[in-house]
Amino acid sequence: MKIIKYKNFEVRPLAGALGAEILDINLNKIDDETFNEIYKAFIDYQVIGIPNQKLSSDEYLEFGRRWGKIHHYPYMKGLESHPEILEILKTETDTYAFGNVWHSDGSFTEVPPKATMLYAQELPPAGGDTLFADMYQAYDTLSDTMKNILDTLKGLYVGDQPLAQFSGAKSMKQKDPGKTQVKSYHPIIRTHPDSKNKALYIGGHTVEIEGMSREESEPIINYLKSHSTRPEFICRFKWEPGSIAIWDNRCTQHYAVDDYAGFRRRMHRITILGEEAPY
Ligand code: SIN
Repeated sequence: MKIIKYKNFEVRPLAGALGAEILDINLNKIDDETFNEIYKAFIDYQVIGIPNQKLSSDEYLEFGRRWGKIHHYPYMKGLESHPEILEILKTETDTYAFGNVWHSDGSFTEVPPKATMLYAQELPPAGGDTLFADMYQAYDTLSDTMKNILDTLKGLYVGDQPLAQFSGAKSMKQKDPGKTQVKSYHPIIRTHPDSKNKALYIGGHTVEIEGMSREESEPIINYLKSHSTRPEFICRFKWEPGSIAIWDNRCTQHYAVDDYAGFRRRMHRITILGEEAPY
């Protein structure tokens, strides 16, 4: 477990593996030194939660732009007033919660997002948490033989897998229902540009290994999916109104827990473009 001290704020780790809450900061009033420390905490803990924020959409977007260029989600429309902000909404009658599968955001795009930030707008009375899994530990705990096998392999990441499920997310606005297929190959093991650590890059969008048939790929992919989400690698983020969470898609997976049927949950998401391969 990491216990790291910062100059401008206190942090509270969320679990042994990854994740921390940053306490007593107001994102409307941060100077560059504090921003740089927030970025450091993001690299150190992979997922950071920042409670009690009051940002307008303009302010939220301004904060988002400090992290880099905005990554645009290919399947759903953003807010009319702020197309860069994707509203993740599940109403009382919707039957599908967006993100209810282990995944790394946008892994099917050619240049996937390095970071995602999510800002809680409306929450159910209980539930609707988000789970995160540490892909550094997922990599480190593989055998050397498995690491060597995976070292040069690329996975095929396909983005249209959940489109059928999107029909249960009626309250979200699809861009081009059923037509868009976005897919990309990426290394299954990637080296993080800041930490220089190796991470397993796997998730719900990984369907095949380059150069192998689906039948050959599936046992390996299925093993990696189940290995990478062992309880020891996980933290659970409990949302409060006004919470913002920011996670590193290059070294984590996440899962939106759908345990609040009949209630409403509304979140605002901004994704930040990552680096181009090789990584
Ligand atoms: C997502 O997968 O980006 C959404 C996660 C969530 O709503 O908790």
